[in-house]
Amino acid sequence: MNIDIKQISRNLAKRRSMDELIATSKRSELKKTLNVFDLIVIGIGAVVGTGIFTIIGTAITGSSESAGAGPAIVISMVLAAIACIVPALCYSEIAAMIPVAGSAYTYTYATMGEFMAWMVGWILMLEYAIGNITVASAWSGYFIHFLSGFKSILPAWICNFPIWLRYDYKTMSEMCKAYGWDIHDKIPYLFGHIPISINVPAIVIVLILTLLLVRGVKESTKVATVMVGVNMFMILSFIIVGSHYVVPENWLPFIPVEHAFQGIMMGAFLIFFAYVGFDAISTTAEETENPQRDLPIAILGTLVICTILYVCVALVLTGIVPVNMINVNAPIADAMSHIGAKWSWFAKFIAIGALCALTSVLLIYQLGTTRILYAISRDRFLPKSWRLIHKKYKTPHVMTWISGLVVIVCGLFMDLNISAALCNFGTFTSFVIICIAVLILRKTNPNRPRPFRVPFCPYLPLIGIFICAILIIFSLKTLKTSSVYFVLWLFIGVLIYALYGYHQKRIEERGRIIKKQQ
Ligand code: ALA
Repeated sequence: MNIDIKQISRNLAKRRSMDELIATSKRSELKKTLNVFDLIVIGIGAVVGTGIFTIIGTAITGSSESAGAGPAIVISMVLAAIACIVPALCYSEIAAMIPVAGSAYTYTYATMGEFMAWMVGWILMLEYAIGNITVASAWSGYFIHFLSGFKSILPAWICNFPIWLRYDYKTMSEMCKAYGWDIHDKIPYLFGHIPISINVPAIVIVLILTLLLVRGVKESTKVATVMVGVNMFMILSFIIVGSHYVVPENWLPFIPVEHAFQGIMMGAFLIFFAYVGFDAISTTAEETENPQRDLPIAILGTLVICTILYVCVALVLTGIVPVNMINVNAPIADAMSHIGAKWSWFAKFIAIGALCALTSVLLIYQLGTTRILYAISRDRFLPKSWRLIHKKYKTPHVMTWISGLVVIVCGLFMDLNISAALCNFGTFTSFVIICIAVLILRKTNPNRPRPFRVPFCPYLPLIGIFICAILIIFSLKTLKTSSVYFVLWLFIGVLIYALYGYHQKRIEERGRIIKKQQ
């Protein structure tokens, strides 16, 4: 067999022209219904979730593996926001320039060629689909916590359903190790060998949201609007009520006396998860009424609103509860119980807010996964049948179901921590790519209209690349299991491209040439 390496390399680097991309998006069958308000709702809905309701606790107090930031979590939050702001500016520039579904995947196709585009799309699946495993697990945890508050009213089978129907196998085996339980006593074994331990609430919520997404984007954003409204109300109430109970002495020492640098850096790394998701806005570009104007406003607006909220929450939380007494599972809800028994009802309301926040993150991440897969399949890297549009609801229903099943099936094999780390890897990588894409486009397409421009280019994108690269290297060194999974994920991506995508693309090209000749 004759392998033409030069031709293969040329194919791998083939870029799509921006005019062609924009023309394809104009022919899109997706309905254009979203305005700037919807986009900010999608942004806040995607960003405010597990990070601020759960992970903030560990970031402040530290864990067996890392030091905590203490009240200086505020500094960590600003650092994490800085790590996001440059990629957010870059996303804004490109999203306004190429308002096409697919986010970083599409932008890479226009700048770095076919192979890199496929790999970025594949990596984005880590951020969205695999990241959703973390959120679904956290949702399930809050849901069980919430049910336990109603033990006196609800039947016992609802509040105390079997433990093997609440946790994935990995979490279950770690719990057994931690509490010295014999796992054989805790979970059933199929045919005596296959352990059965499934996070049923996580699966059920993903199924419900998938059904909702099949019904339509507008309907889904309506639900997200309600969720975001409830969740914002809870967070603002926490800030307002809590600020009356702040004891300034709790803020001292503001910076931890020991391991200050490590604590603040690790805090920034952990709390970064709380900012992940604003780029989900750019995945809906084709469904936006006025993408050139609205996408930059929504992306930057979301980031600014979330940073202000997070800093206020952190100041109130560390102001009302001494660092060593912060509850790491439900820090915000628990802080309310801490200020007095008369506020314990409010803690339950905070739990509702957390459930709403996590539900909207799940919904928007599922939406993002589907839209990216849609763009990838439109380019032939995935089967055409996947992007069938529902006759009545006008949504890519097959793709929506596939996205839901990916979360459910992968969730059977991964726990919350591994999926969160993989999500961070995916996000850092896509941030680096987006900064590089801005630099390339400024060189290759200097005159194309840019409704929004990254200031101080090329310095800001270069700073963005530097910060994200440091975060990737730092996390690859720290998180051993997830690093192996990450490399494995990349390998599987290369394999799918080599065995399927590359050939489909060539078939498509040959088809086009024949059509032109006729
Ligand atoms: N930022 C999202 C969350 O915190 C991923 O859940």
